[in-house]
Amino acid sequence: MKGIINKGIEELVEETLGQDKWKEIKEKAGCDEPFFSASEDYPDQMTLDLAVAAAEVSGLAIEDVMVEFGKFWISNTGAKAYSAFFNLAGSSAREFLINMDRVHRQVTRNMKNARPPHFEYEELPDGRLLMHYQSERKLCKVLKGLILGVGIYFGEELQVKETACMSEGDPRCTMEVIFL
Ligand code: HEM
Repeated sequence: MKGIINKGIEELVEETLGQDKWKEIKEKAGCDEPFFSASEDYPDQMTLDLAVAAAEVSGLAIEDVMVEFGKFWISNTGAKAYSAFFNLAGSSAREFLINMDRVHRQVTRNMKNARPPHFEYEELPDGRLLMHYQSERKLCKVLKGLILGVGIYFGEELQVKETACMSEGDPRCTMEVIFL
């Protein structure tokens, strides 16, 4: 996974729990990287170990850490690192989400070993957006947090419900997004 994800975990922990807890989490996860470079590749297992250690140290369930990470990443780590994409990718939560398949392909085009998520969309007549997600990493809990984070970024209230999940045997995860 690209370093921009681990960097997001670091920033979230430092901001909410402080630097000492971040040191403790890194030690627990057996991670001795002095810092994370945004476009460099790190093992997926390292990201998972950091998330598990963050759950242990914070007392939160791992799923909640993933959702909190996603909510935080958009307005903080992501918006800082990719300001150009944030400025161009839409002026509402709906527009931004619908652009995310294209944005991931563009951003990772020149990144070696990148494996971006793939999204397909269905816009329902009643205004709901179905966002279908495919990735061998199956990070739908992070995806839920990221969608909520997009709502926070645009100052919009959203509801997100997962209606199909790869971990339960479905071919892809589906997030139903309701714009309130
Ligand atoms: C302009 C905004 C964004 C940029 C530049 C961006 C960029 C990236 C990059 C570079 C990765 C790492 C890919 C890899 O390691 O191969 C990633 C992962 C990911 N992104 Fe984004 N992202 C953005 C916003 C979003 C949003 C809004 C969502 C969902 C609503 C999203 C969903 C994900 C997920 C779920 C992953 C984990 C990888 C996986 O599922 O396999 N991203 N993103």
